[in-house]
Amino acid sequence: MKAPGTGVERKGKTLDRSHIVLVGMMGSGKSSVGRTLASRLERPLFDSDEMVEERVGRTIREIWEFDGEPAFRELETQTLLDSLERDEPSVIATGGGVVLSGRNRQLLIDSDAHVVWLMLDIELLLDRVRNGVHRPLLDDDPETKLRQMSQDREPLYREVADAMVSVDNRSVVDVAKAVVRCCG
Ligand code: S3P
Repeated sequence: MKAPGTGVERKGKTLDRSHIVLVGMMGSGKSSVGRTLASRLERPLFDSDEMVEERVGRTIREIWEFDGEPAFRELETQTLLDSLERDEPSVIATGGGVVLSGRNRQLLIDSDAHVVWLMLDIELLLDRVRNGVHRPLLDDDPETKLRQMSQDREPLYREVADAMVSVDNRSVVDVAKAVVRCCG
């Protein structure tokens, strides 16, 4: 399934006027790759975490602490719906947990969007996420939590993804180029 030399695996859609949706674990680079992709393709970027924060005027951590994770997940679903429904082809950077909801997974599977899974080796992920303030899930024992999350979520990312791009040891620009290639 893996295309030789590209670090890209694909299920088989082509880049057209559809949205590109980035999924993957926290720390895999969805937001930074999304920004680069949006600027290269001259598309708007919808970053789920930012949209959730704007919608309620509070940070992810505040929502998590005062309203709880289920409230955050509901906002995340609303945000996904809003972004997918836009007519203009866009780049959508999801939060790492978007695939936890069966409803979200079905929305992604049923949409015309290209869903690209950014994959990163777990050791590199651990290095990247140590200092993130918007990741309350990693407050206690981040290493064990992240390893478990990665294991639990891998089949869910696989279920929704049209393509996979390896992020390991690649620059943001290289990853963005790989995403364009695998959608094109
Ligand atoms: C989460 C990932 C975070 C953020 C929230 C929950 C998760 O987004 O949505 O802390 O469940 O994996 P990033 O993937 O952008 O870090």
